[in-house]
Amino acid sequence: QRVRTAVFPVAGLGTRFLPATKAMPKEMLTVVDRPVIQYAVDEAREAGIEHFVFVTGRNKGVIEDHFDRQFELEQTLEARGKLEALAELQQDLPSAGQTSFTRQQEPLGLGHAVWCARELVGDRPFALLLPDMVFKSRPGVLKQMMQAYDVAGGNVIAVEEVDPADVSSYGIVARGAGPDTGFEITAMVEKPRREEAPSTLIISGRYILQPEIFTLLGEQTKGAGGEIQITDAMQRLMDRQRFTGVKYQGRSFDCGSKIGFLAANVAFALEREDIAGGFTAEIRKLGFVLPEEARRVSAKR
Ligand code: UTP
Repeated sequence: QRVRTAVFPVAGLGTRFLPATKAMPKEMLTVVDRPVIQYAVDEAREAGIEHFVFVTGRNKGVIEDHFDRQFELEQTLEARGKLEALAELQQDLPSAGQTSFTRQQEPLGLGHAVWCARELVGDRPFALLLPDMVFKSRPGVLKQMMQAYDVAGGNVIAVEEVDPADVSSYGIVARGAGPDTGFEITAMVEKPRREEAPSTLIISGRYILQPEIFTLLGEQTKGAGGEIQITDAMQRLMDRQRFTGVKYQGRSFDCGSKIGFLAANVAFALEREDIAGGFTAEIRKLGFVLPEEARRVSAKR
């Protein structure tokens, strides 16, 4: 079955990003001038998603507002002739009726947040995007995964290589036969000790899952960190269904961490024709040497 629905869990507390996330959801922090959640929604639209399901929590109402129309603002932009800004706002929005929101009443973990979407997703395969992970990739990571899904069906997980010293912070997969664009996953484990990790390939926040995962999540007890983990449920689903790994082309930024967020801002700013010139001048003033790519963009201006 074609994947039409994407789930965006946005109910986490964002404790790694306090105090910014005390009253504001981390998904609304901006990378340059777009909220982190917008990057994930854009990626899903590019991959052909038509139904956007957000699992929200307290303090997250602003995410719903972000994906709604703002008539007063639109009229003001029109009256002032700011038509480009207006067109951009309209283009960012999913169409009427394409978004759904539900609440995770308690932040019991990512697996529990996904389970909260079960009624909205129904009995169909769906994509799962963790919005804190922002990718610089062409085509987008979910689109690369859809290509693998068209071939293999089943469940698909995006992976990337990390330093062996970092494996204990992530879900790790064991790699079987097949190319980077679609290989068999033979095992997975959440946050293993370095010496027990089956590889250095981490699960990087993008999944295509079959609906049977919901039944398993419903039976799931707490795992690593006292949270209901999606990896534990996927491990059990592996007994019955195929899991394919895609080592995607591109790079990720963990915008749930301060360092990843700052790096994303620099990387995306240096790619923007309207910002790179001024931004590189400021960086130079701070005494930093610029990469060749940024110099080219700023010279072109
Ligand atoms: P994280 O572990 O990165 O999010 O979960 P967190 O718990 O908000 O962050 P820290 O570690 O305290 O800083 C990955 C994704 O799962 C969602 C988060 O919103 C994030 O998109 N999540 C996590 C939920 O929706 N509910 C939860 O109970 C936990």
